[in-house]
Amino acid sequence: MAKKTSIVTDSGKVRRVIVVGGGLAGLTTVIKLCEAGIPVDLFSLVPVKRSHSVCAQGGINASVNTKGEGDSPQVHMEETVYGGDFLANQPPVMGMAAAAPGIVYMLDRMGVPFNRTPEGLLDFRRFGGTLFHRTAFAGATTGQQLLYALDEQVRRYETVDVENEKGIAVRGEKMVRKFEFWDFLSIVQDDGGKAVGIVAQDLKTMQIEAFPGEAVCLATGGPGIVFGKSTNSVINTGTAASAVYQQGACYANGEFIQVHPTAIPGADKLRLISESVRGEGGRVWVPKDPKESRRGRDVPEKERDYFLEGKYPGYGNLVPRDIASRELFLKCFHDGRGVWNGKTQKNELEVYLDVTHLPKETLRKKLAGVLEIYEKFAGEDPYDNPMKIFPAVHYSMGGLWVDFERSADGRLVVGSPRNQATNLEGLYAAGECEYQYHGANRLGANSLLSCIYGGMVAGPALATYVGNLKSSVYDMKSSVFDRAKKREQEKYDRILKMDGAENPYRLHEELSIVMLRDCTIERHNPTLEKVIAKIDELEDRMANVGVTDTSGRANQGAQFVRHLENMFILARVIATGAKNRDESRGAHFKPDFRDRDDANWQRTTMAMYGKGAGTRSEVKFVRELDYSIAGAPVHVTDAVDISLVKPRPRKYEQAGAASAAAAGSGEAKPAEKTTSATV
Ligand code: FUM
Repeated sequence: MAKKTSIVTDSGKVRRVIVVGGGLAGLTTVIKLCEAGIPVDLFSLVPVKRSHSVCAQGGINASVNTKGEGDSPQVHMEETVYGGDFLANQPPVMGMAAAAPGIVYMLDRMGVPFNRTPEGLLDFRRFGGTLFHRTAFAGATTGQQLLYALDEQVRRYETVDVENEKGIAVRGEKMVRKFEFWDFLSIVQDDGGKAVGIVAQDLKTMQIEAFPGEAVCLATGGPGIVFGKSTNSVINTGTAASAVYQQGACYANGEFIQVHPTAIPGADKLRLISESVRGEGGRVWVPKDPKESRRGRDVPEKERDYFLEGKYPGYGNLVPRDIASRELFLKCFHDGRGVWNGKTQKNELEVYLDVTHLPKETLRKKLAGVLEIYEKFAGEDPYDNPMKIFPAVHYSMGGLWVDFERSADGRLVVGSPRNQATNLEGLYAAGECEYQYHGANRLGANSLLSCIYGGMVAGPALATYVGNLKSSVYDMKSSVFDRAKKREQEKYDRILKMDGAENPYRLHEELSIVMLRDCTIERHNPTLEKVIAKIDELEDRMANVGVTDTSGRANQGAQFVRHLENMFILARVIATGAKNRDESRGAHFKPDFRDRDDANWQRTTMAMYGKGAGTRSEVKFVRELDYSIAGAPVHVTDAVDISLVKPRPRKYEQAGAASAAAAGSGEAKPAEKTTSATV
């Protein structure tokens, strides 16, 4: 456990930890640090309440088992590692599943307006990859409700005085200082490489500053924008993770990118149509006649092909996302069975997602938020018309490599400074920017959970780390910070001077075309080689970019160039990892290597940054890491901890056959003792 740390240095400075990112993971980390008495500087690219967690719709998993189905944290853990195709280290997953019911009850007490049953209990719905009702939800705006609840808690700490060891308030110092509209540029490293602060840029004044911090935790979300349009917010470029990767942090399992089966197009982004729509009984289908010209609602039942229900009798429309997305892709791309468009005389890349058979009252109570989004952006009333949807990039299972310390009972040693720690001493990561909880495929509604749990683990880990520090970064020579600030200022000045012919937004578009087409649902080595060659080309052309804005205030053009450089570097990690991994596992599917290859690939991909020729980056894959935390050496390898559940092939087709009839009606019951993990 954390030692009681002195909060104020001899020279009177308040010792703070820096948290970057104001989504669920960042806010939870802040709360846990404050509970441990450690003041925090919180940085966010956008107003905290606009962090990407706000977009999450369907819910948060917790095996509370209020419906008496026999669900439990053990089953939740098994289904999570099974759904993730046995690539996740199992103790962190067990810790997360065990903590989940407590997390949901905590959120309930914080005031999250969860849906409730008529008896007043928390209600739970089904989500993909399980036959149990395990997902607590607040209509279809769960992320927003959770984010606002945690934001309230953090705002409280913004008004609480920092106290010194004698319990006396330190004048003018509050437990949380919030810096919104600041872009993370890099960590400050001391001469030994330890993280001792950050450099960030105020996006209004464009001023660059270095901030000391006893430790740094990134909670900066995923890299969806590498693929152009996705369900992610436009801020999700992965820039912070890329920046620290370039400073020596290991990036793990980058090739595992989740494509969500159901989204709709938009000019700026693709909008998620939540899995909870299927959890409440929504059904996916295409007309049996590929040239069916009637409107969806006019196609009679017997002329519809409910292809997921046909192939996966137990799970039906709620097979895990990697499988559902692949089936939709196959239907549209390979079979040419997408919905027929009379105007263009072709089969579009879309299938129907239908809720018109469900009671309108239920839809309003449980799904109004997402159905409203559909109506607004697709221009059609989904209560009366089947929605038209297609898969979209949604989530990254990969991210910064982080460690954990396993407890004797196969969970985590709470408070171990190794938990959520990257291989750069003093740098921690939580939430989607790290790789820890989902293996090769994330189950729906496990992300909000992993963000909050990651923060709950990161907070105490950071507290212990800070408690063990022999000296404070606040007493270090200022040249370390000056040097880091100067480096970032020079990089920014270089960007402002870029006046070449290349348009950075065009380069991004070119990147996203190949990443989306060749590096998502289906991957082939020859095309992946072309993707990597394209990244070489784009990085070369980067030298000839012209920045679109040179103004000294709110300069989004220059900021975008920085993010773009960082996106190329992550794109290379993703594409090269995909090219190397010659097997199919979870979201990574290669038709030329259809099977999971445990003998060769039951291991974490660990990527390290290298500088290539000219403006090019390089990626180096390693099998082990050696570094130290507070003088204690750490040695880790790429072996996956499978100490709790023995890997076996996934067979969702055969699972839950006993409940097939019920599944077809969207009312699947857990088959007797037939969880996915026990198939
Ligand atoms: O479909 C959804 O509501 C998304 C949830 C998730 O990604 O966990």
